[in-house]
Amino acid sequence: MGPLAVTQLLALISLTVAMDNGLLKTPPMGWMAWERFRCDIDCKDDPENCIREDLFRDMADRLVEDGWKELGYEYVIIDDCWMSMLRDEHGRLQPDPFRFPGGIAKLARYIHDRGLKLGIYADMGTHTCMGFPGTTLDTINIDAQTFASWGVDYLKFDGCSSNPIEQMLGYPLMSKALNATGRPMAYSCSWPVYVGGLPPKVNYSLLGDICHLWRNYVDIQDSWDSVQGIVEWFSNNQDDLQPAAGPGRWNDPDMLIIGNFGLSVDQARAQMALWAIMAAPLIMSNDLRNLDNSARFILQNKVAVAINQDSMGIQGRRLLQEKNHIEVYWRPLSHSASALVFLSRRTDMPSLYHTSLAKLKYDTGNYEAYDVFTGSTVTGLNATTQFTLSINPSGVVMWYVYPEQTSKETETLHYQHNKASQFTFHKAEPGHLTVL
Ligand code: GLA
Repeated sequence: MGPLAVTQLLALISLTVAMDNGLLKTPPMGWMAWERFRCDIDCKDDPENCIREDLFRDMADRLVEDGWKELGYEYVIIDDCWMSMLRDEHGRLQPDPFRFPGGIAKLARYIHDRGLKLGIYADMGTHTCMGFPGTTLDTINIDAQTFASWGVDYLKFDGCSSNPIEQMLGYPLMSKALNATGRPMAYSCSWPVYVGGLPPKVNYSLLGDICHLWRNYVDIQDSWDSVQGIVEWFSNNQDDLQPAAGPGRWNDPDMLIIGNFGLSVDQARAQMALWAIMAAPLIMSNDLRNLDNSARFILQNKVAVAINQDSMGIQGRRLLQEKNHIEVYWRPLSHSASALVFLSRRTDMPSLYHTSLAKLKYDTGNYEAYDVFTGSTVTGLNATTQFTLSINPSGVVMWYVYPEQTSKETETLHYQHNKASQFTFHKAEPGHLTVL
């Protein structure tokens, strides 16, 4: 096929495809196996942690019984390594018979019976990233139909073992095939990762039309370095990425790793805060059966979740990078509210940060701020009021800021109080700004 034919075909496909089936008006929330459980298929020696139906049932039970579902964590998503190495006699993908003896449809029923939704993984290409059967252009329709027949609610469509032309054809075709099944399924596309994540190679407006969310960048790992690297890349490229997001179309900086081995409590708060600012999917990959309370409190922080799930769906931005490695992030929210995150990328000691809302481009007016992780409220702020925050190394202070006159609206939010106040606050003469 010549380049012109490919372009024409693409134009045709994108005219006939629209993934606007009303799903994911706010970023998806749930749990996914990959970062924590990877491709552990050793059920003999590691029965608790291997990829098999019991693991997903266990996580579904935890989501329901431990208060996750009522907060919105509803998707249980199978990642790579669920498949049998061979398709069945009708050419359909099938699960590994030993690790998923009940089949995916039965697992979907178990999950649906608990008011949750099931996600599954497939790969545009000859093989998945771990070498299981892939979905090639000629099997897209049958795979979409198979997933629909099993009652799948969400597809993560990876892109290992394919070339850019196959991806350019395959991702829109899968969108069309999912739509054609008549079953509403959320569609997560890894396409951008495989073509560098940025325009002109990535067409974010086309992606927003065909996918509900997309992975833009490298895989998250269980470390603060990895979280920082992802945040840095998203912020450095925010002019290209931030406008692409909105209800039904989300950038995906990858899973929440809170509750695993790599993050301190401060770093875990930082991941939660920054994922809320970025309007990122809140998809945890951790062991919900063994989660300490600090991780649970962070992931179940109702205000952080409410900020992430704000109905306007505007992705936030990095506003400032100070020379002393303090950064400020901001996201506009409904009801004239906003969220601010003050991140310290320092590695020495808690740093004092002096600023005012005016310095952060807020309009004149009176504001209140709720400190999301300490549960304290700052009243009597106006734009020029100077305040000082203490920010822990590789930690954040996160504020939910709202105009004073609408403060009653915040009474509907049930705040999580889990730590004493961390900041000092003082009023300064109007117009007085502290220079850093
Ligand atoms: C890729 C994806 C990961 C995960 C693995 C599975 O690396 O980016 O999120 O799905 O494949 O093999």
